[in-house]
Amino acid sequence: MGSSEPEPGPAWHFVGKFEESTTGDRLHGVLGGRYISVIRHEGSLFAIDSVCFHAGGPLGLGDIEDVNGHTCVVCPWHYYVVALDNGEKWYQGTVQGPDGKLLPGAWKSVGQRQRTHHVQQREDGGIWVQLNLEGQLASDEYAYKPECGLRIQT
Ligand code: FES
Repeated sequence: MGSSEPEPGPAWHFVGKFEESTTGDRLHGVLGGRYISVIRHEGSLFAIDSVCFHAGGPLGLGDIEDVNGHTCVVCPWHYYVVALDNGEKWYQGTVQGPDGKLLPGAWKSVGQRQRTHHVQQREDGGIWVQLNLEGQLASDEYAYKPECGLRIQT
């Protein structure tokens, strides 16, 4: 992603530059009082609410995994799996094996629970985020109060 021209719509906010980051391919910030994480993974940029919709955990600090073709972040608290591109929560179903025991089954989505935002990297390397605040989502409950103790550090 890269553009020198801001797109129309709500305001774009400067978050920082990765080369100035002490946290690798992540930037964390507070935009309009909302805790946001920008994650760069394999050439793609994602912006997502930092605080987990489930119980306020530090989702923005979670490990990245590929699930069913989606780049996901895994919450460090209860291991919920959330797609970075659209905020869907994924879980792995179960199937009954021939001996009656449950075995891992297909991955399924319960739909979007975590809010994602628009993000772009401009020519000077700056990362900008435009908040996407349409509708209501589960992550709105914790978006302004990081009970996880998430420290904002770029
Ligand atoms: Fe429970 Fe994130 S707080 S999975």
